[in-house]
Amino acid sequence: MLNLKVIIGSTRPGRAADTVVPWIAGLAEKHPAFAVEVLDLRDWPLPFFTETFQTIGDPRNPTYSDPIVKHWNQRVAEGDAYLFITPEYNHSVPGALKNAIDSVFASFAFRNKPAAFVGYSGGIAAGVRAIEHLAHIAIEAEMVPLRSTVIIPMVNAAFDHDGGPKDPEATTAAGIMLDDLAWWAAVLHGARQDKQLPPAAMRKMTATAGRHR
Ligand SMILES: Cc1cc2nc3c(=O)[nH]c(=O)nc-3n(C[C@H](O)[C@H](O)[C@H](O)COP(=O)(O)O)c2cc1C
Repeated sequence: MLNLKVIIGSTRPGRAADTVVPWIAGLAEKHPAFAVEVLDLRDWPLPFFTETFQTIGDPRNPTYSDPIVKHWNQRVAEGDAYLFITPEYNHSVPGALKNAIDSVFASFAFRNKPAAFVGYSGGIAAGVRAIEHLAHIAIEAEMVPLRSTVIIPMVNAAFDHDGGPKDPEATTAAGIMLDDLAWWAAVLHGARQDKQLPPAAMRKMTATAGRHR
């Protein structure tokens, strides 16, 4: 089984995330490829990013500024794939989600693993701008962001009393997205076991140091 981390991007009281997450996490749990863990950022009160080379200490066993940052890096590292559930805040992702991704620092825990996105918002925009931003962020964290997404407009009216989306297209999109995520997770899991290049940032540092010797 591939380890899928479902990461909830909103932390505020009364969040609409609580209507989206049970549905999508339930579908992911039914997918034969995945063992699913939901990572709710409410349970991870990470400090605002403050890491430096000093807080990292030994990069092979980083200390970080606070034990929770180390635990977060370790938990993220267990994942073979990530499914981010994000609302749209000011055309982007919530600050808490960006902070949680930034906090995966020096461990390269997201590296060479696929990421898929579920976006939603209170209006017609459906979180598409948040997803576009998040895909760019994912590239720099060295994830492999996928094309297939789920977007949910008017989130407060989007779900039935039974917890499923009123729009059947959402369920179709979710199935396609999860299949793509499973395919990429398997491919990249195999590739990581086979051989990985050292991170590009490390290779650049080595090349630069060589020039200055
Ligand atoms: C700070 C903030 C900024 C928002 N910005 C946008 C936005 O840019 N576009 C949009 O469609 N909705 C925006 N919204 C509406 C949210 O998408 C909507 O409130 C949604 O329910 C938020 O998800 P949550 O309740 O799970 O936190 C914003 C809401 C907040 C609180």
